[in-house]
Amino acid sequence: LIVSVGSSAELEENYIGRCTIDATGKLISPGLVDPHTHLIHGGTRESEWGALAAGRPIPGGIPHGIVATQMATQATSTKELSAGVTKRLNVMLAHGTTTVEAKSGYGVAPADEIRLLRVLANVEHDVEVIRTYLGAHVSPGPSGHMQFVDDVIKQLEAAREFAEYCDVCCDPSGFTVQECERIAAKARTLGFDIRVHADQTGSFAGAELAIRIGAASADHLEYISDEAIELFAESNTVAILLPTVSYHSFSLVRQPTNANWLPAPHPWLGQRFRELLDRGALAAIATDYNPGSSPALSMQTAMETAARMYRLSYAEIWHMSTINGAYSLGRADRIGSLEVGKQADIVVWDVPNHELVINQFGTNLVETVFKKGKIVHPGANL
Ligand code: NIG
Ligand code: FE
Repeated sequence: LIVSVGSSAELEENYIGRCTIDATGKLISPGLVDPHTHLIHGGTRESEWGALAAGRPIPGGIPHGIVATQMATQATSTKELSAGVTKRLNVMLAHGTTTVEAKSGYGVAPADEIRLLRVLANVEHDVEVIRTYLGAHVSPGPSGHMQFVDDVIKQLEAAREFAEYCDVCCDPSGFTVQECERIAAKARTLGFDIRVHADQTGSFAGAELAIRIGAASADHLEYISDEAIELFAESNTVAILLPTVSYHSFSLVRQPTNANWLPAPHPWLGQRFRELLDRGALAAIATDYNPGSSPALSMQTAMETAARMYRLSYAEIWHMSTINGAYSLGRADRIGSLEVGKQADIVVWDVPNHELVINQFGTNLVETVFKKGKIVHPGANL
């Protein structure tokens, strides 16, 4: 735990350190908090996204989209899934992330999510992983919704053993407000807190739903409505912005092969999110790491992208990547800032100030990472 914060002179007068780490001229920050990821999956989708980036049709015969990852995940052994999670957590840690939210969501059927949650629960890693059951991720097609939602609800009890949060995708690509509300209401009775994928590919009143039911977070928000911007101002639901999704899905703009994935209104997103913050929303940033819309593991990348695409100040971005993410995960009393009594999750950066971390983009600027006071990623000089 952090026992004191102050100048070196003050600290040296009152404490004798068991060991001293010289960080002269370097930035010290709280460990980064990544409150939205799809950490567990099989397969990758570079052929699909490579074609999208080049403006070519997706090669015939290869499955694509979330369904492709569902199939690849089903075909991946538990051992390999676990190895994939560990590998990704290693990269995240090396880039300064010390707490991460991880969703299931790539089961072919809701019952398959339990295996994914169990794997996540069994992974041992220095990065703290907070688990979320995401059964209602992608629409099963117009005629299958009723049955699918029933199936998602049926798995809630089994999922609760492994997951603290239940996520629902309230979006044209996912489920309606009514369907999400049914799932969320049942989840609440079992003690889940709620997170919502909201309004990613079209306005669907997902943010309004999240705020109305007091969800911990409403994430994505590319198609946020004017009403939701107002509602966030009076709400404790955290608006989680996912800048690497906006960036990566530039590839989707004007793609006739992707009629289902409406391109987000990118040129206006900066304006929308500036307005969201100016009105008083509590907002955070996450990577949304997944093999499709955001194959990005580093919060530094998300922070840099947010600055350029969303017109946020560097100082805002630091809050959004530490304490606000911690708050959205119900842990603001323990992590997310360097305060006496909090967990010593600390990053030493190889730059002299916080602005450079965001300004100097494209390289990993982390030197040393501490989790609960222990060095878990050694810097070059240690
Ligand atoms: O961006 N609606 C949710 N969609 C995911 C995409 C995951 C993928 O492309 O595999 C998201 O959060
Ligand atoms: Fe997501």
